[in-house]
Amino acid sequence: MQETSSIHGAWASRWIFILAATGSAVGLGNIWKFPYITGENGGGAFVLIYLFCILIVGVPIMMAEVLIGRRARQSPINAMREVAIESGHSGKWSAVGWMGVLAGFMIFSFYSVVAGWVLYYIAGMGTGDFIAIGSDDAGKVFNNLLADRDTLIIWHSIFVVMVMLVIAGGVQKGLENAVKFLMPALFVLLIVLLGYSMQSGGFQQGWGFMFHFDASQLSWDAVLTALGHSFFTLSLGMGAIMAYGSYMPKKASIGSAVLTIAAMDTLVALIAGLAIFPIVFVNGMDPGAGPGLMFITLPVAFGQMPGGQIFGFIFFLLVGIAAWTSAISLIEPATAWMVEKFGWKRLPSCIFLGVIIWILGVAALGSFNFLSDVKLAGFNIFDFMDFVTSNIMLPLGGLFVAIFAGWFMKRYASEHELAISSPTLFNAWYIVLRFIAPVAVAIIFILNLIEKLK
Ligand code: TRP
Repeated sequence: MQETSSIHGAWASRWIFILAATGSAVGLGNIWKFPYITGENGGGAFVLIYLFCILIVGVPIMMAEVLIGRRARQSPINAMREVAIESGHSGKWSAVGWMGVLAGFMIFSFYSVVAGWVLYYIAGMGTGDFIAIGSDDAGKVFNNLLADRDTLIIWHSIFVVMVMLVIAGGVQKGLENAVKFLMPALFVLLIVLLGYSMQSGGFQQGWGFMFHFDASQLSWDAVLTALGHSFFTLSLGMGAIMAYGSYMPKKASIGSAVLTIAAMDTLVALIAGLAIFPIVFVNGMDPGAGPGLMFITLPVAFGQMPGGQIFGFIFFLLVGIAAWTSAISLIEPATAWMVEKFGWKRLPSCIFLGVIIWILGVAALGSFNFLSDVKLAGFNIFDFMDFVTSNIMLPLGGLFVAIFAGWFMKRYASEHELAISSPTLFNAWYIVLRFIAPVAVAIIFILNLIEKLK
């Protein structure tokens, strides 16, 4: 096989691939979830396990996704089939790609709703709605927003259009141009916020909260949380990274690119924590506030601080950009597949897919108002989409990718794509991928499920 290019185009350089994949990885998972679960799970000890998981499970599986994508140069559905056939196995491995496309739609449905809230808060911060707001009022603002179906639909629709405009532009004019501009902006905003929080007076307290090593806080549950999160935060298990890998230049080294992406994703999570917690502490607020942390606690904190309005605006802008570049990767696999399958152009494919995800998003946002009575397996629609994807579909997808690349794909094909000059390094990757990663993921998958269904 060894296709030299994809019909969809290719990234201009290995750095563009790295930026695009980092754009996918860095999202709501880093800026909101990581700091919060770190605080809940014992700070420094949790961070250490998380780093370990990224390295032992995340990096090897991400390498497998990228190499499968680049070998086939097609959408995940077709890539899984082609590479399976190349290695003398059933084309039915495409089912992994199908599950990924479905997972992408489902993640998008709730991701777009939260991104819609973020857009609403960008506007609110920009117009000064939160100046000197008290926590009761901030809670009311958020709850009123959740209850307001039409406002939610408007912001969700704007986000869908933003994502589809980028995807319609294609790999070079759309995705590449977007990440070339947005990712540097994201890094600049992050550094500005970090600087602001360093001089806010709460920095030491924030640092201690995130990095104090308290082994007594370690629990089996924390290990599971760290493993699961390392998966979600690297965008693994649904083909997003596989699709991006299929546009990667031939000569670029997969191993070093993946290490860079994982390092940047981790760095952003750590910096986000160091930017957020000092602001929370200096205002005497609760770091474990959960979903309200970003939408209730932080606006109150910003509202009381000098320059808080502008920095609050910058904060939500940053979250919005991070969510935007992540959401693109949720829909790219399906778009590429439609173009391959039906020979459609990107625009009609996008319009078709845009309608589907718009409807799914409206169903998810309805969980907070007009569809609040609808329950699926005991969850509202929003929580159901989150639960089924994060706890079932992504771990299964990642498990299948590891098993496929480790046990079914021909070894020479992986060797050729990875082109690692040191046999020891290649063997290390291969052993981790075949034995350690699948077992670890299987354990999280099963224990997590038992825990959640109990
Ligand atoms: N990684 C993103 C975050 O941390 C979310 C995300 C984007 C994702 N694309 C994905 C998660 C694909 C799983 C699969 O917010």
